[in-house]
Amino acid sequence: MNKIAAMIGAGLIGRAWAMVFARAGWTVRLYDSNAAQLTDARAYIGPSLVEQQGAGLCDDAGAAQARIDYVSSLESAVADAAWVHEHLPERLELKVQIFAQLDRMVEAGAIVASSTSAIPASKFTEGLACRARCLVAHPVNPPHLVPVVELCGTPWTATATIERAHAIMTGIGQVPIIVRRELDGFILNRLQGALLTEAMRLVEEGYVSPDDLDKTIKDGLGLRWSFMGPFETIELNAPGGAADYCARYSDFYRRLAVDPARPEVWESEHVARIVAALGAPMRPSERTERTQRRDRRLLALRRHKITSSKTE
Ligand SMILES: NC(=O)c1ccc[n+]([C@@H]2O[C@H](COP(=O)([O-])OP(=O)(O)OC[C@H]3O[C@@H](n4cnc5c(N)ncnc54)[C@H](O)[C@@H]3O)[C@@H](O)[C@H]2O)c1
Repeated sequence: MNKIAAMIGAGLIGRAWAMVFARAGWTVRLYDSNAAQLTDARAYIGPSLVEQQGAGLCDDAGAAQARIDYVSSLESAVADAAWVHEHLPERLELKVQIFAQLDRMVEAGAIVASSTSAIPASKFTEGLACRARCLVAHPVNPPHLVPVVELCGTPWTATATIERAHAIMTGIGQVPIIVRRELDGFILNRLQGALLTEAMRLVEEGYVSPDDLDKTIKDGLGLRWSFMGPFETIELNAPGGAADYCARYSDFYRRLAVDPARPEVWESEHVARIVAALGAPMRPSERTERTQRRDRRLLALRRHKITSSKTE
């Protein structure tokens, strides 16, 4: 298998994936139908790779940058590519259209993945000749700093495709998880959705301010979650481990489960009240500054995790 990856769409997610493959030694062709997006992507990628090199996530920023070609033709992007990865906006009709085009162009044997956040690939791959090689590879934004990637096949995705995708993702330094069958929101966004919906309810019903709710995660649960999952957590939260934890606390969790947050918290008038409680909208310059700060802190955290896992 060659190490050529085609990235289809150069927005937030496509440009980040391009860096992930390039810093791992792959040749990358980054394609977008909007030339301005390619220009923006190039301007973003150069400094970002230098920063990643500073944090130990990239051996040679210059070499990684040189491995990325910015292309304006879909056909030349996918020619010879062993890994083709779609990152167009989250609209089913766009996914249907691009996968039909890719089906006519990709190399025999190429894996064709989608970054879709929530659309099962069976909705846009059923009639395709390459359908056994199609799957979802859903990242977290930004994938060059957050390594988990959800791999979810369709009823017709070959087992070998999932296995190869798993090996490729591991090989480029990501952390793949396998979603065993399609479901709305895959795994990550179902967990995020449960938390966010409850957070909306707690703020909406006046139990807590948005600021204090955020502190509960960033200075509470999130500290532990950055290196252990909920099952690893409960194992240590009772002297007898997970079974003991469930015996002690299941009554409480059962009571919560019979009274879940209602879908209405997402109705526009409720959302408007939450948004108002969040304070004045950010100015564009402030948003850019905060995004950069988030990325710097993620980079530092990633570096910490890599170093500490080596010394444990
Ligand atoms: N942003 C996130 O937090 C996030 C996280 C995980 C997954 N995703 C998923 O990744 C995908 C991309 O999201 P994004 O945030 O990068 O979107 P984006 O809007 O930043 O980028 C989409 C890019 O696709 C290009 N495009 C649109 N139509 C095209 C076409 N027909 N041909 C070629 N290029 C075209 C646009 O010019 C744009 O550059 C979506 O499916 C989204 O759900 C997003």
